[in-house]
Amino acid sequence: MVDQLPKTDLQDLRQECLECRQCPLCEARTHVVFGAGNPQADLLFVGEGPGQNEDLQGEPFVGKAGQLLDKMLAAIDLDREKIYITNVIKCRPPQNRDPLPEEQAACMPWLRQQIEKIAPKVIVCLGRYAAMQLIKPDIRITKEHGIFFERDGRTLMATLHPAALLRNPSQKPQGFEDFLKLEQFLKAQKEA
Ligand code: URA
Repeated sequence: MVDQLPKTDLQDLRQECLECRQCPLCEARTHVVFGAGNPQADLLFVGEGPGQNEDLQGEPFVGKAGQLLDKMLAAIDLDREKIYITNVIKCRPPQNRDPLPEEQAACMPWLRQQIEKIAPKVIVCLGRYAAMQLIKPDIRITKEHGIFFERDGRTLMATLHPAALLRNPSQKPQGFEDFLKLEQFLKAQKEA
């Protein structure tokens, strides 16, 4: 699935991003994974970075973690047509290692511009990399997941990364609880 609108500012940004050579991750990538979903969504999900499947397909969250994310979205009556999904870094690090600070720094301007153009009301950070970049650098995700923060007029919440939930299934209820809090929050916003 690519962006649902044919030609928008976001499409122009995507074209630019697909040619990015700001850091060495461009050398080994198959695809830049810019993001996917509804560019007019009020809700943006931000993960860490592409894994092997995402690199091969050029789409975010298409592997096992993505399948779990889809289930969690469905549990609160959301799907990928209703949200936008992207990552902190747009190119796969070798062997799926953690993104280096300099790679994140090189890539953040893309995410910042995506946020500006999509203008979501709520951003959900999937895992600590997105949370450290968008909420606060010293966030402790195990303690501060499910809490709503305000940044630049938007609401942000961090939740446990779906890949972490697959590694530690005992934490899945905590992840689902965060999604239920999100559902409540969105409902309250609609009613306000
Ligand atoms: N993990 C992420 O953080 N992002 C993806 O796109 C896939 C897996």
